[in-house]
Amino acid sequence: MPRPLRIAPSILSADFARFGEEVQAIDAAGADWIHVDVMDGHFVPAISFGPEVVKAIRPLTKKPLDVHLMVAPCDPHLEAFAKAGADIITVHVEAGPHLHRSLQTIRALGKKAGVTMNPATPVESIEHVIDVVDLVLVMSVNPGYGGQTFIPAAIEKVRRVAALAGGRPIDIEIDGGVTPDNAAQVCAAGANALVAGSAVFKGGAPAYRANISAIRHAAALARGEAA
Ligand code: DX5
Ligand code: ZN
Repeated sequence: MPRPLRIAPSILSADFARFGEEVQAIDAAGADWIHVDVMDGHFVPAISFGPEVVKAIRPLTKKPLDVHLMVAPCDPHLEAFAKAGADIITVHVEAGPHLHRSLQTIRALGKKAGVTMNPATPVESIEHVIDVVDLVLVMSVNPGYGGQTFIPAAIEKVRRVAALAGGRPIDIEIDGGVTPDNAAQVCAAGANALVAGSAVFKGGAPAYRANISAIRHAAALARGEAA
């Protein structure tokens, strides 16, 4: 049985001056998860937001908060994001020397543990943690900014992650430059969770429902599901 399709708009592309309303708008427009990009200005060049923002949006939606930590070191912050209301916490392979410990910590906090790697980092880097993760995120851009172009080599990585995951109940997520045009390819390779920032937020709130539907429709067709 394939894992259910999840469309996860990234609120990095939201209007920050109207953050709460934006979260509610993508929830109402059909988001399955809310993808929360946390950037520290050190692991990645940009700074976005921290656990206080997660805490502030938690009461505004019942949808799972999918928190992507582009933070090094990440260990000192895991508890704060868990307490703030994250449901999934994803850490980078490159963010510290004790990846297995970070993932164990996330699970011990009662949250789903995700692992991700930069485009230049091979899938082999997660081979030895595959039994302690609930999600693998394949980066299809270099982390740090929204609005970048999809890196096609990510498709082969998704395929390799799917082979590595085997029959385990692991979500395979793709993040960066996802559009209705490449959604079919990434799903055919084995991804079931699609992050999209600019492709969802373009056109403002009146367009969110159609933008999410366009990605969902392309993905569902590739999965052999009606949409
Ligand atoms: C990149 C982030 C992504 C990104 C997605 O560092 O992890 O989640 O903001 O935005 P788009 O879909 O615009 O590439
Ligand atoms: Zn992300």
